[in-house]
Amino acid sequence: MEKLKEYQDFFTEYSFTRKEMVFFPGKFPSSILLILKGKVRVYLSYPHGKEFTLTILSPGDVYSGHTRTFGQALEPVSMASIPMEVFKEMLQKMPNLVFGLVGVLGDALRGSMDVIESLVFEEADVRLISLLLEWARHNGKPVPRGVEIKLDFTREEIASMIGSSRQTLNNLFRNLMNEQLIEVQNKSILIKDLDRMRHILRERKGE
Ligand code: HEM
Repeated sequence: MEKLKEYQDFFTEYSFTRKEMVFFPGKFPSSILLILKGKVRVYLSYPHGKEFTLTILSPGDVYSGHTRTFGQALEPVSMASIPMEVFKEMLQKMPNLVFGLVGVLGDALRGSMDVIESLVFEEADVRLISLLLEWARHNGKPVPRGVEIKLDFTREEIASMIGSSRQTLNNLFRNLMNEQLIEVQNKSILIKDLDRMRHILRERKGE
């Protein structure tokens, strides 16, 4: 920390109130950012209000202005920006800085993996419902409790049809069963509420 002070002249300090944007793509294109006080939510943002949080920065964390992420103050925040060239020198003099950096990047990587998984899972969910509805339409047999579909495929085969793993398929089946939409038997699936399944599909596709 003492050594950090040597570089203080190169730091530019900023303060932000709660909810204020701390950084966004292009705001600090050639600076490294050091959080001095408060917490910052780092996220990706897309049209229609879609946001994906990747990590939360705390005091002492190092981040960077050259990413496509946005940062929002979760509480009053102070932050120093450090020119990239100065930061490179600091890294040489204080190699321990690298540990903090790896921690932040590791956390952001985990956040990114969570986002990827949730997107894959969401899509697989829509694809499974579409597939079940298609089977119900083509080979479904009306029975007193709904429509029964005979299964000619293994779980692995169904999973690959919707581009997911067997484990994800089991989770999806469990969700649909918990919602009282289907009942999975050994060699068949009972669709208990065809109308609600169609409705969910339309909603999920944004129609
Ligand atoms: C000496 C310091 C650094 C150098 C020379 C450096 C260099 C680079 C370069 C060349 C890229 C690729 C840019 C592109 O493809 O447009 C990049 C991307 C990235 N860097 Fe750094 N970086 C440094 C420090 C940091 C630090 C401290 C962090 C965060 C803790 C960081 C996080 C990132 C991230 C998240 C990306 C991906 C950006 C995106 O595509 O959204 N970098 N960096």
